[in-house]
Amino acid sequence: MRKMRLMLLGLVWITLCLPASAADKDPNLVLIKARQGDMEIRSMYATPLFMMARGKMDYDAEKAQTLANNLLALTKVDMGMAWAPGTGNDKYPKVSDALPDIWSTYPAIAKKGKDYSDAVNALTKVAGNGLDGLRSGVGDLGKSCKSCHDEFRQKE
Ligand code: HEC
Repeated sequence: MRKMRLMLLGLVWITLCLPASAADKDPNLVLIKARQGDMEIRSMYATPLFMMARGKMDYDAEKAQTLANNLLALTKVDMGMAWAPGTGNDKYPKVSDALPDIWSTYPAIAKKGKDYSDAVNALTKVAGNGLDGLRSGVGDLGKSCKSCHDEFRQKE
């Protein structure tokens, strides 16, 4: 009986440790997590900007400028290595939503990336200049996120 319980405990322990050891063995899982993290950070900065523009949050010029600056800073980080070929959702279903078209139609996604950084760049010039300024810039920002997701991200 005691032996049996120990064996069961052992099994539970092995099961709990599996995710960590899988990540150790497959470095691509680190890349996927990193690029998803990059997207989550974009979202953290962009969401309050969208909310201010829609009147769901009070406009704050200084805050809006800082959020836009942070988005700009992120565009300067080269995340290229996180998008290694062979890491799409055909190979990593349930882990990644990145469509294989990213690699098969390359450099189409680079154009979307450029549209995005252009929109962020333009936003930094207007975000702190009043609510109308912010509004004139977030439209293109939102479009640039959506347009890339429409083409290259698996719909839920
Ligand atoms: C050039 C293409 C592109 C642009 C621009 C882009 N995204 Fe993404 N985004 C993707 C792809 C591809 C994925 C799926 C990544 C994966 O799961 O491996 C993704 C995933 C996400 C996710 C889910 C991350 C997770 O935890 O799984 C969020 C949130 C997100 N994007 C927000 C944004 C926001 C906000 C913007 C604009 C401010 C933006 N994205 C701009 C391509 C893009």
